[in-house]
Amino acid sequence: MTNNHISNKERIDKHIDTLAWYNSTPTKGITRFSYTEQDRKAREYLLDKMAELGLQITQDSVGNIRARLEGSYSDAPPVLTGSHIDTVRHGGKYDGVVGVVCALEALTVFKEQSYIPQRPIDLIIFVEEEGVNFGAGLAGSKALVGTYTPETLKTLVNDDGVSMYDGAKSFGLDPDTMGDHLLKPGDAHAMVEVHIEQSVVLDTEKISLGIVTGIAGIEWLRVEIEGQPDHAGAMPMQYRKDPMAGAAEIIATIEETARSGALPTTVATVGKILCSPNVPNVIPEKVHLVVDIRDVDPAGIETVTRMLIQKLEQVASRRNLSYTVKNVSSIGPTTCSEKVVDALEQSAKKRGIAYKYMISGALHDTAVLAGITEVGMLFVPSIHGRSHCPQEYTSIDDIAKGCDVLLGALEKLSKL
Ligand code: GLV
Ligand code: MN
Ligand code: MN
Repeated sequence: MTNNHISNKERIDKHIDTLAWYNSTPTKGITRFSYTEQDRKAREYLLDKMAELGLQITQDSVGNIRARLEGSYSDAPPVLTGSHIDTVRHGGKYDGVVGVVCALEALTVFKEQSYIPQRPIDLIIFVEEEGVNFGAGLAGSKALVGTYTPETLKTLVNDDGVSMYDGAKSFGLDPDTMGDHLLKPGDAHAMVEVHIEQSVVLDTEKISLGIVTGIAGIEWLRVEIEGQPDHAGAMPMQYRKDPMAGAAEIIATIEETARSGALPTTVATVGKILCSPNVPNVIPEKVHLVVDIRDVDPAGIETVTRMLIQKLEQVASRRNLSYTVKNVSSIGPTTCSEKVVDALEQSAKKRGIAYKYMISGALHDTAVLAGITEVGMLFVPSIHGRSHCPQEYTSIDDIAKGCDVLLGALEKLSKL
């Protein structure tokens, strides 16, 4: 491994700043949902940069992008590196973007130095990682590996009633041909993703890098509770069928179970709630909430799920409500591959950059790719652990260190 593959900090910074312009909520963080105008502009910017580098660009039928730096053994399965450019609502400018920009920078450095890897290296950008537009996280990578079919995409519907299938079509894509672009076991040699940590560990311990050894599993459950709409002033308390009051009890149980009734590693959140008709003087008819449960140990997820169902049953019978629970997205815990962890570790050591092993509490497309190849991730610090909010921040110095270590890891992983 040569030591002269060093990233260009100014160039990384400029890419991150430029992508932040493609934002539908300029006064409140970054909002860039999949298949929107902002998404299109961010893609155009990146596609231009990839074309300038002479990479071979392909876009699959749901919008995942791959841009290849050819290897001297062009038939060898490639090393993949990248992340996503969609964001949550009012999110930050680093989540996902850092991994995409580091991958772009790595290929730029290789090109500048006329370095030809043995295996091809593909920059990969996943569509709809956050799942906040169409309701299911990791939808792009799940489509890429064949977990989601065109039929699945028809069932993922956003708050305007548009399915991911129709959204892709309106964006000029052809989701019916998804099956022609699948990434299957053996099609890739490894996947490595740089990402912000999104928690407090690296910042608190003042360590620049985290080498990820595992990623927590997740379950998204969509709960619908139905009662009876009535006059908020005229209907006495004992005659009400109020799904909002029922939802409040359920939410408290979810929090309490994750806090002290499951495992120390379990977390659970209700971050989305919709109520109908959603006016102050009507007892609601329906409440819909999405429960996000995560753990590195599936037992923690099972405990919260079991308590949720028990409580729903109890609350519904006491309050005269009906309910449904639907699993809208899930993935089990992931163990990162020793091969990728070693490549990252050797690269960090060679560059004298301090690191620690970590578990990812946040979810990443890399977890989906673990079903078809060997995977690993590299974290850079999130200041005060803030993420999925406008205050999200990671210093350019730390991002550049992450990119340098990625460069070394890609060199190693791309050797036959
Ligand atoms: C993705 O950012 C997730 O962990 O929800
Ligand atoms: Mn995110
Ligand atoms: Mn992310």
